[in-house]
Amino acid sequence: MKRFVLAAIAAVALGGAAYADTIKVGVIGPFSGPFALQGKNFKAGIDAYMALNGKKVGNDDIEVIYRDVPQADPAQSKALAQELVVKEKVQYLAGFYFTPDAMAVTPILKQANVPMVIFNAATSAIVTKSPLVVRTSFTTWQTSTPIAKVAYDAGVKKVISVVSDYGPGVDAENAFKAGFEKQGGQVVQAIRMPLSTNDFSPIMQRIKDSGAQGVFAFLPSGPTTLGFVKAYNENGLKAGGIKLFAPGDLTQESDLPALGDAALGMQTTFHYAISHDSAENKAFVAAADKAIGNPAELTFPAVGAFDGMHVIYKMIEATGGKQDAQKAVDAVKGLSWVSPRGPVTIDAESRHITQNIYLREVTKGDDGKYYNKEIQTFEKQGDPGLAAAK
Ligand code: PHB
Repeated sequence: MKRFVLAAIAAVALGGAAYADTIKVGVIGPFSGPFALQGKNFKAGIDAYMALNGKKVGNDDIEVIYRDVPQADPAQSKALAQELVVKEKVQYLAGFYFTPDAMAVTPILKQANVPMVIFNAATSAIVTKSPLVVRTSFTTWQTSTPIAKVAYDAGVKKVISVVSDYGPGVDAENAFKAGFEKQGGQVVQAIRMPLSTNDFSPIMQRIKDSGAQGVFAFLPSGPTTLGFVKAYNENGLKAGGIKLFAPGDLTQESDLPALGDAALGMQTTFHYAISHDSAENKAFVAAADKAIGNPAELTFPAVGAFDGMHVIYKMIEATGGKQDAQKAVDAVKGLSWVSPRGPVTIDAESRHITQNIYLREVTKGDDGKYYNKEIQTFEKQGDPGLAAAK
């Protein structure tokens, strides 16, 4: 008791340093609608991080406030970000599944004195729109460049590319073309589909008609990718020997049971597989499985969120909980740690994550469950798209 009183007096003498503040983090993502599973994975990653690392940084309590943008909707994203900053007084903005939702918020960061930590949105240019953006996910340049080499080495010389017609799709198309032509291959046709496309049969016909030996594809993970890969299998392209090359968005683990044996052998390149064999990943998956409730729903946005929280905790530590966006961002430039995905660094210049990209193959385990099996590592990949974005 006496000790407690003395401690209380000391705390008051120190100017109330022992009194905790609450630091709010506003997270924007798709928490309802067709992409709700992706938002659920943001939350699972955040909850897993807080379960393993606590809900406090120093004396400060961390509170996460969620706002729902079900589909890419820049106006809604910006309005919610403003509400989070003005009304909720969040010190950090984070999340952002879709590129347009992140892009719409970059102009308010400076005046709001708030850093943005991107958990997913993958268009290279986003980090160039404000010095207060840091990204812990990937870019489609980063994930699509290695698959071009894989395709060429598989003996495929003529490819048709098919992408969703918005930022990350256009980046993926450019990345694949640059990588594939460098090898000596040829992209015979490039199709851009509206983001809202959900009937892929006409596209499959155009792929068949193109005479290409392979197809490169990017769509944002969700019902879109599941529908595309199903259509590829069901329209006879796979059976006809037209090979599919894609970044790992097209084989997210939560879609594998629905794709079934038809997806076996499919090769993709990506920054993260739930099967990644490391102690850090085992701890992450155990905590994230618990957080999400149903392990079959766990997929890659959870790791972007988990590492994003690591970055935010480091920012809070460096600023002592005070609101200073530039100081917070400067503190994580060059930060390295071992993520569940492997070793990573926040590149000091671009503020984008440098990481290994893995070639993976859809495999069925002894337990009958499908997984992405890592078979090759492209080490320490930066973002080749940044030069193009400038
Ligand atoms: C994006 O909009 O930047 C985005 C969304 C989902 C993905 C990849 C990129 O799987």
